[in-house]
Formats: sequence, structure tokens, C-alpha cells
Amino acid sequence: MGSFTFFLFFVCILFVTSYAQLTENFYEQTCPRLPNIVRREVKKAIETDIRAGAKLIRFHFHDCFVQGCDGSVLLEDPPGFESELNGLGNLGIQGLEIVDAIKAAVERECPGVVSCADILAQASKDSVDVQGGPSWRVLYGRRDSRTANKTGADELPSPFEDLPPLQKKFRDVGLNSTDLVALSGAHTFGRSRCLFFSGRFSNFSGSGQPDPTLDPTYRQELERACTGPETRVNFDPTTPDTFDKNYYTNLLANKGLLQSDQVLFSTQGAETVEIVRRMASRQETFFRQFRLSMIKMGNIKPLTGNQGEIRRNCRRVNDLGGETGHDVM
Ligand code: HEM
Ligand SMILES: *[C@@H]1O[C@H](CO)[C@@H](O)[C@H](O)[C@H]1NC(C)=O
Ligand SMILES: *[C@@H]1O[C@H](CO)[C@@H](O)[C@H](O)[C@H]1NC(C)=O
Ligand SMILES: *[C@@H]1O[C@H](CO)[C@@H](O)[C@H](O)[C@H]1NC(C)=O
Repeated sequence: MGSFTFFLFFVCILFVTSYAQLTENFYEQTCPRLPNIVRREVKKAIETDIRAGAKLIRFHFHDCFVQGCDGSVLLEDPPGFESELNGLGNLGIQGLEIVDAIKAAVERECPGVVSCADILAQASKDSVDVQGGPSWRVLYGRRDSRTANKTGADELPSPFEDLPPLQKKFRDVGLNSTDLVALSGAHTFGRSRCLFFSGRFSNFSGSGQPDPTLDPTYRQELERACTGPETRVNFDPTTPDTFDKNYYTNLLANKGLLQSDQVLFSTQGAETVEIVRRMASRQETFFRQFRLSMIKMGNIKPLTGNQGEIRRNCRRVNDLGGETGHDVM
């Protein structure tokens, strides 16, 4: 009895320390209009740049995978650390100015209150739902790091990887194969540069042949579209800017753009194959899982309480040679 009570107590402690810090109503008193401000700014950004939403959710993913969802990815020149923006996985990443615009709007109404990490979480939800995808209740309360880890950004999941290393990188942050498949579904919108998939066109992995899991007709279309390594191509050839389940129906037709996309379906005997089929079968199945997996990803090792800080400018830590020179706008 005594030891069982102790066990229950321990389970509660574990539960509290790993989940209970983020809450829906964290800014209810301090910035009640936060959801409206962010949503308005995301919509505005998408009006001038149809890719704005894709850029924002990718930032949230790259943030959460490196030392947790703490805004570390946004730091351009963190004192004592090399920027994650110089990491392999972030080379050429776009959209920092969109984050700036959202942050500036939030600061105008609620100065010094809302973290950049929370802004990325909220903006990701709005991006998905503005482009036709599911909506969900965002949890808040993350704080911003004063550190970064460039090595972590070098080791982000790579488009050239096979399934087992991708699964391992997700498992390392508490995400399983269902999450991997569901979150990869974000490649239903946005673009990729040709350098990340042109190796599939010929002599794939030294085989002398194109990637056999790339549909030949689609391959020829891609070869024509790719006029150079930096050319950007739609992830989803069917509905490029809509958040829907077509990412999965594309995989069933060998029309995944990256190797890391197609391996989810084309790896013989993998548990992900059935998960792809399930997501492809019903949009609501994908949407339901995507919501759950986004919340799970957003819960990765946040800084809370008095850890870290609330950055004024998402690109810089506070208190660097006087804050005034470093404010947004
Ligand atoms: C499974 C491992 C993943 C790999 C290997 C991967 C890789 C990539 C690559 C190579 C690009 C193109 C970047 C460029 O051209 O500069 C890209 C873009 C993108 N990724 Fe992923 N990604 C993965 C997972 C995710 C996840 C989990 C999300 C979000 C939940 C995501 C969202 C996006 C979006 C929306 C874009 C398009 C961005 C734009 O148009 O600027 N990706 N990804
Ligand atoms: C940075 O990330 C790498 C790779 O994930 C990890 O091995 C290393 O311990 C991290 N460094 C710090 C200081 O946390
Ligand atoms: C992944 O974890 C979720 C709970 O977060 C669970 O429902 C699901 O079955 C797991 N998937 C796999 C393939 O283990
Ligand atoms: C294909 O790649 C392999 C290994 O990199 C190389 O030895 C071979 O010469 C290449 N073949 C062609 C036709 O380029």
C-alpha cells in the first residue's frame, strides 16, 4: 500500500513535470487578444506570400527539434553560441521577416509578454488552418532560450535519409512513427529546392539508375522544372498551396518529392506503410492525427517558469548592449 501510494505520487510528479507546464489560457490575463493578433498577421503575410504559412510551420519544426521549442532557431548571433541558422538543416531557410512582423504586432499590444517560441506554435496552427487544414487549441507558456545549438541544427532530419535514421531522430524527441508520418504531411504545401531531390533523377546512390520509387513521368516533369539546384518546386503537384491529404495519395503513386517522403511508403515491411495508407484514405483521419502530433511536437522540452526569457526581438537575446538599440521596428 505504502509503496503503491509512492508509485502513484511519482507518476503524478512525472506527469506534472513533463506535460502540465503549457496551458491554453496562459496569456488570458496578460495578452487576451494574442490569438487574434497572430492570426490576423499570418493571414496578412499569406496575402502577399502564398508560402508564408509553409515557412512558419517549418520554423516551428526546426525550433522544437533542437533543444526543444524555445525559439533557439531564430537567434542570429547568440552570444557564446553559433547560430542554428548556420546549421546544415537550416541553410537557406526563409521567413524570419514574417516572424518579425508577427512579433512586432504582438509587442505593440502586449509588450514583453509573449515568447517567440509561443508565437511560432500559434502561427503554425493558423498557417495550417488558413490553407484549409485542421485547427487545434494551442498550448502556451514556452519561454525563449538565451542559447542555441548549431550541432543540433546540423543533425536535423535530412531529405537524403532512409526510414530508420528518420525514425530515430523523431524517437529521440519523443515522437513515434505515427507522428513522423503525420507531421511529414506538412509537405502538402510549400516548396523544395531541386538540390534536395535531383540526386534521385539518375545514378541514384551509385546504382546507375534513377530512384526506382520515383514515378518516371513525375521524374521527367521534375527534371524539366529543375533548371538549377536553387529552383523551387511544389511539394504537392496536385494542390500546391492547400493543406490536404494529397501528400499521402502522392506517396501511394510514387510521387513523393524527397527521398525522406517516399521512404515512408516505399520501405518494404515498414510500420509506416500502413500509416500512410490510413492517412491517404480519409482526410479527417489525417487531420485528427496531425492535430495530436503537432501538440506533441509543441510540447518538446519547453523552457517554462523563470527559465530563459521573453525576447523583445526574436532574432536576439535581450540585454545585449542596451535593449533600446535592439528593439523590433
Ligand atoms: C521528416 C523529416 C523532414 C525532412 C527530411 C524535411 C526536409 C525538408 C526540405 C529539404 C525542405 C525544402 C527546404 C528548401 O528547399 O530550402 C522542406 C520544406 C518544408 N518542410 Fe520539411 N522536412 C521534414 C519534416 C517536416 C515537418 C515535420 C514539417 C512540419 C510539421 C515540415 C514542414 C515543411 C514545410 C512546410 C516546407 C516548405 C517550406 C517553404 O516552402 O519554404 N517538414 N523540408
Ligand atoms: C547540442 O546538440 C547535440 C546534438 O543533438 C548534442 O549532442 C549536444 O549535447 C548539444 N549540446 C549542448 C551544449 O546541449
Ligand atoms: C504513437 O504514439 C501515440 C500516442 O502518442 C499512439 O496512439 C500511437 O499508436 C503510437 N504509434 C506507433 C506506431 O507506435
Ligand atoms: C554512379 O555512381 C557511382 C558511385 O558514385 C560511380 O562509381 C559511377 O561512375 C556512376 N555512374 C555514372 C554513369 O555516372
